[in-house]
Amino acid sequence: MQTAMLPFDGWTVHLAGETDFAGWRVAARNLVLNDVPPESTLWNVSGTSSLADLPAVPAGAGLNVPRSFIERAEAVSCHADPQRFALLYRLLWRIREEPQLMKIASDPDVRRFEAMEKSVRRDIHKMRAFVRFRKIGDGAAERYVAWFEPQHFIVERNAPFFARRFTGMRWTILTPHASATWDGVSMAFGPGAARRDPPPEDATEDLWRTYFQSIFNPARLKVKAMQSEMPKKYWRNLPEASLIPQMIAHAEEAAKEMVARMPTSPSPHHARVQAKHWPIRESQAAAEEAEYPSIEETREAARHCRRCPLWRDATQTVFGEGPEGARIVFVGEQPGDREDIAGKPFVGPAGQIFDAVLEEAGIDRLKVYVTNAVKHFKFEPRGKRRIHSKPNAGEIRACRWWLDRELALTKPDAVVALGATAAQSLLGKAVPITRMRGGIIEREDGLPVFLTIHPSFILRIREREDKEAERQRFLDDMKAVRKLMRA
Ligand code: URA
Repeated sequence: MQTAMLPFDGWTVHLAGETDFAGWRVAARNLVLNDVPPESTLWNVSGTSSLADLPAVPAGAGLNVPRSFIERAEAVSCHADPQRFALLYRLLWRIREEPQLMKIASDPDVRRFEAMEKSVRRDIHKMRAFVRFRKIGDGAAERYVAWFEPQHFIVERNAPFFARRFTGMRWTILTPHASATWDGVSMAFGPGAARRDPPPEDATEDLWRTYFQSIFNPARLKVKAMQSEMPKKYWRNLPEASLIPQMIAHAEEAAKEMVARMPTSPSPHHARVQAKHWPIRESQAAAEEAEYPSIEETREAARHCRRCPLWRDATQTVFGEGPEGARIVFVGEQPGDREDIAGKPFVGPAGQIFDAVLEEAGIDRLKVYVTNAVKHFKFEPRGKRRIHSKPNAGEIRACRWWLDRELALTKPDAVVALGATAAQSLLGKAVPITRMRGGIIEREDGLPVFLTIHPSFILRIREREDKEAERQRFLDDMKAVRKLMRA
């Protein structure tokens, strides 16, 4: 970073490059403490880093900025907008006078900051989803190269994710702005590249195409949704994208064929391919945790979950729903047939009882967070029907990572275990629900777990009177939960 006096009596700050956030921090702190207003600064990314020209910081001067602003500002600094560093400086300047500024969503600077942050995060996720490596060389010379065109300057920020995910590979990601190279031990960043630089197609691309074809479900084809998930601008760099027009054209025919076929289990070959290419190591968990700082980002990541094999036969991940600050979280067992298709928890027959009883108890479902211990539908195929099958301890354990993230992000006052699977997931051990229902167990982390039955239990009771009595008991439990919300 370099600074120079301007004729208009302001400061031009030259940062070392597009991603020199550290340089911006030093300069911004210095200029704010010297009371240099935003309109007297110009921010430029073409210079060589130098602190020498900055004015001295007045003795005893200090600056208190919320850590969350700095963290978010670092994300915004990756945006391609040339005015981003000026915007960050203006916000920093204003925060000194208005410490609550970042909470004013209607403020134009805050709005712009939030839109830029969102766009950078989205770009980061798209890169994670759409980078495709090509293999070059064999044996000791084996390495992988990918070409990607991000919208923003995100390569440096995103590289640690790829290092964790592809730790054992030697790879390079080339983009127009910068390149990142991982040699299995350390990361190096280099200049940008041109699109012709990556090596030509290879066998890895066939693997992607096979994978994409195998997960494509013609009966559930939604062209718009598919294009919003995989926008057209990314297609030219994706090997599997060449299949899309053809698959859309043949979808109707393929759907008919699929309905006629009995459901089958995934082939052993498919399972081996998955195990090799999507391994999840526990050591990644903590790092990934930090990657998903909001429910939205966690939900997006869960869409690609491969922590257990249940994803293979399910239509989609059914993640929790509700406000991030909900005071109560309800946890069911796993999505059923209807939830699997809708992608939402508790919308089928059990969900209807659940909704009706919540309403009678005076709990607004829109104000609580509703989720499941296991996020994929587990079933046994019976002809054309899919019969619910109970998740086992390994599947519950594998999925607990997502439930823990949901609880960490919503920070509820209490959580309601709807049935034995939820209780097992939340408490880490089996609990006799019929004996303990209506009771509360406090977890080691202090979170109270209210125990009750699963609403589908009511559905299974045949005798009308018994059914009604059980429904009433469930209603009493929900009223007790309502009191917890008031407490
Ligand atoms: N049963 C559950 O446990 N969860 C749902 O989402 C639906 C039915």
